Amino acid sequence: MAILKVAQMGHPILRRRADPVTAAALRSRDTQRLIRDMIETMREYDGVGLAAPQVHASIRLVVIASHRNPRYPQAPAIPLTVLVNPAVTTLPGPRIAWWEGCLSLPGLRGRVVRPSRVRVRALDRLGRPFTRVFEGFSAIVIQHETDHLDGVLYIDRMTDLKQLSFEREYQVHWAPAEASGKGA
Ligand code: NI
Repeated sequence: MAILKVAQMGHPILRRRADPVTAAALRSRDTQRLIRDMIETMREYDGVGLAAPQVHASIRLVVIASHRNPRYPQAPAIPLTVLVNPAVTTLPGPRIAWWEGCLSLPGLRGRVVRPSRVRVRALDRLGRPFTRVFEGFSAIVIQHETDHLDGVLYIDRMTDLKQLSFEREYQVHWAPAEASGKGA
């Protein structure tokens, strides 16, 4: 397995609409290796998700997983999930705010409000179709990662860019308020 280089904001691949993965491509050795390397890369950099365009592969493939880590000490656990050609539908429910980060915008956090419940139809890493409903933090991560497949970054979803913060300033000035329920 290999740790892959992560494209940083400004690289055009992050702004391109990624291509669907064909059944044959998904079965290929190269794509299966890419999936393993994306998981390894996500873990190496304490990410909770990674989209293929972030590692310079413009295809519709994302991996997500979360356990408590230094970047997201409050993050609820999400089991490892591989989504190929995901289609996301918003479900009724409240919208929730989260201070998102992204390995393609290192060192920054921004407050984004998104739907809290989504239904995802996708293929798994072996090409088997599945449908699942995600709620709360995992729904946020799903939307953030699938946005990458359409060339969208979380800063595009921010309604107030004054809340774009460096990690340290976020920890000092915003995280305490979020923890006490204010500003969510
Ligand atoms: Ni991201």
